[in-house]
Amino acid sequence: MATYLITGAAGFIGSSLARAVLKQRDQVRGIDNFSTGKRENIEEILDQIDFREVDLLDLDALHSVCQGVDYIFHEAAIPSVPKSVLDPLGSNRANVDGTVHLLIAAKDAKVKRVVYAASSSAYGDTPTLPKHEEMVANPLSPYAVAKLAGEYYMKSFYRCYGLETVSLRYFNIFGPRQDPTSPYSGVLAKFITQMLKGQAPTIFGDGTQSRDFTYIENVISANLLAAKAPASEAAGRVFNVATGTRVDLNETFQLLKKLTGYEGQVNYGPERAGDVKHSLADLSRTQGHLGYRPVVNFEEGLRRTVEWYREQAQGAESCSNQASVSRS
Ligand code: UD1
Repeated sequence: MATYLITGAAGFIGSSLARAVLKQRDQVRGIDNFSTGKRENIEEILDQIDFREVDLLDLDALHSVCQGVDYIFHEAAIPSVPKSVLDPLGSNRANVDGTVHLLIAAKDAKVKRVVYAASSSAYGDTPTLPKHEEMVANPLSPYAVAKLAGEYYMKSFYRCYGLETVSLRYFNIFGPRQDPTSPYSGVLAKFITQMLKGQAPTIFGDGTQSRDFTYIENVISANLLAAKAPASEAAGRVFNVATGTRVDLNETFQLLKKLTGYEGQVNYGPERAGDVKHSLADLSRTQGHLGYRPVVNFEEGLRRTVEWYREQAQGAESCSNQASVSRS
């Protein structure tokens, strides 16, 4: 039985990975500082994992957390383009300094491999589509720069210290447990929850911007493959994780109308600073080296995600009805 350390274990992606590792009957150690993660995401699995509230900037704590660990899935981050534009120092501290701290602790503890949550934002506004890993990076936002710096550190720790590292460039991940409540939340989590409540979502710009929106199960699959792929195929490398299809926001809104039953309009607002216009992944390297294939397509992922948020909303409503009945 292997031990996996998941950083950002109480976050959207980390908590889903924790469930997947438990399902394959390996051990999970999880850390989170709850800056964006939520205890409720791991509540039902807390008794099955070794969870510790630890900040990535605490090197002593990381040294102890990494003892006995075989693999690390490094998901902890402050994951937002607009937030990083407002607070580049905060983004750098969490996303770069935190990553270097973790790598040092992983190297000292002789961890077998670190799989890192890199970002498609590294490609920035390069006009070429689809984006392939050989392209020169062109990060636009401080977030994109920080995530790319993390990739370079991954490579550097492999080359300088022989610590096996793999960087997975995630393309706009969505699915159950993604937080819809922050102004910095991913667009799909926001739109779905707004439309289920009958509220009009706002598209920033004209809605022709497109994304390779990727359902969470694809990310889980890519991480599990990246942990176990032969070092000759994976170590020190960068891979796209996506579906290889793209959809624009106007089309997405129409699809969501069908899935949510929302009948109102969409608002249009100013374009967002640091926004990338189009994003689409070339998956040939990920397929060739890791054996990755998308397991759930965009529309099916969207359907499952809408259902999940609908159930959450119904659960919350029935709780509040019970509370008002018991009060009266
Ligand atoms: C970027 C990265 C992604 C990374 C994420 C972390 C790219 C192509 N993608 O996502 O890999 O995981 O940062 O935060 O760089 N929008 C609206 N209305 C809203 C919210 C957003 O129209 O209420 C628009 C945005 O302007 C953008 C699109 O929706 O054009 C997607 O935005 P968002 O979900 O925030 O993700 P990215 O910034 O694309």
